Amino acid sequence: MQETPMDRREASGNKIPSHVAIIMDGNGRWAKRRGFPRLVGHHAGVRAVERTVRAANDLGIRTLSLYAFSSENWKRPENEVTGLMGLFRLYIRSKIDALLAEGARIRFAGKIDGLPADIQQIVRDAEQRTAGQKGLQLVICLNYGGRQELLDAMNRAAAAGEAFPLDEETLRKYLYLPDIPDPDLIIRTSGEMRLSNFWLWQSAYSEFYFTDKLWPDFGPEDLAQALEAYSGRERRYGSV
Ligand code: FPP
Repeated sequence: MQETPMDRREASGNKIPSHVAIIMDGNGRWAKRRGFPRLVGHHAGVRAVERTVRAANDLGIRTLSLYAFSSENWKRPENEVTGLMGLFRLYIRSKIDALLAEGARIRFAGKIDGLPADIQQIVRDAEQRTAGQKGLQLVICLNYGGRQELLDAMNRAAAAGEAFPLDEETLRKYLYLPDIPDPDLIIRTSGEMRLSNFWLWQSAYSEFYFTDKLWPDFGPEDLAQALEAYSGRERRYGSV
């Protein structure tokens, strides 16, 4: 049988993170350096998404989450927001068949009801059609903000009549995707070193990996390098 990258990693004793989360940054700079409008960078970013999803699958990562559009990204110029929404429509619609064929499941985290109505429908349809699949779980964070997620969770817990003060287990039930594991590894591209309101609750014990690569240049080797760095980390979760 042919040896896969995952077999090689396991044979070398490397730990494979179960959930890898990525802050895909640098599309605008990538385009600017080439004299193109920012949207060209986002188009190139979609190709990097495609490469990375394939690589994550090959490496045996169970959950891959991608920060595609934050609740603050609405402040961008209108044509950029419209262009990004167009890319999300196209990407989600065109990927469902491939995800089904690979046994992958697609899910979304964020304030989905704040997105254009047709995208809400596309999102629901993609989630429903891939719901039973047991392979890679791809989570697209769309109109996502960590503070908003926590506010939504607390307000929904109150509306559901939960007893206050809340405990962690109860609050978690009201997060956008309560059943996914917390990210083991959070990668951010483009040399920026901040969390930007991503997975605020879930990142409490995540490991971080930063690379200067701009997102459109990110590929399987970069993901493998991040995993290599992760496998050398000692996670103590507050103990000694
Ligand atoms: C940040 O780069 C990138 C975004 C806000 C958009 C991310 C979107 C994609 C990668 C494309 C589509 C994604 C999916 C899941 C289909 P930036 O524009 O802030 O770059 P800059 O900091 O260089 O300006």
